Amino acid sequence: MKSNVTIGRRSLLVGLATAAGAFAAFPVRAQQALPKMTVTKDPSCGCCGAWVEHVREAGFAVEVIESAEVNRLKVRLGVPQALASCHTAEIGGYVIEGHVPADAIKRLLTEKPRAKGLAVPGMPVGSPGMEVEGVEPDTYEVVLFGPSGQTTFARYRGASAA
Ligand code: CU
Ligand code: CU
Repeated sequence: MKSNVTIGRRSLLVGLATAAGAFAAFPVRAQQALPKMTVTKDPSCGCCGAWVEHVREAGFAVEVIESAEVNRLKVRLGVPQALASCHTAEIGGYVIEGHVPADAIKRLLTEKPRAKGLAVPGMPVGSPGMEVEGVEPDTYEVVLFGPSGQTTFARYRGASAA
């Protein structure tokens, strides 16, 4: 009788531990459900692929479209020429141009400003996907752009906010 009670308690504890483990396995998903991202890139672009890896590691589900006409897409989506970079992404109704850090995209999706999207013009060294071993990362701006103009959304040095 006494041993039966002990076994009962033990299996209850094991059950609780399993339940706790199941919750711990999905902390990021429970925190923020991220919309799916579509990235259009030239098939020959290596840094674009590295950026896709960066956003996937940050929890984004990404569909990649290989296209030789990324510039045509930029025009259609309204990316100002001065803000152009290599790849162009679309997520949650926003346009993400170039090597924008995943953290900045998450902030955009949380704050939902009235804008077309975010851009990191050109290809700053050290931005996500543009890391060059032995080279100091650039300090660069993440630009919020849209019908009401362009403002600095964030400033980064390499992968960290600066
Ligand atoms: Cu690039
Ligand atoms: Cu790219």
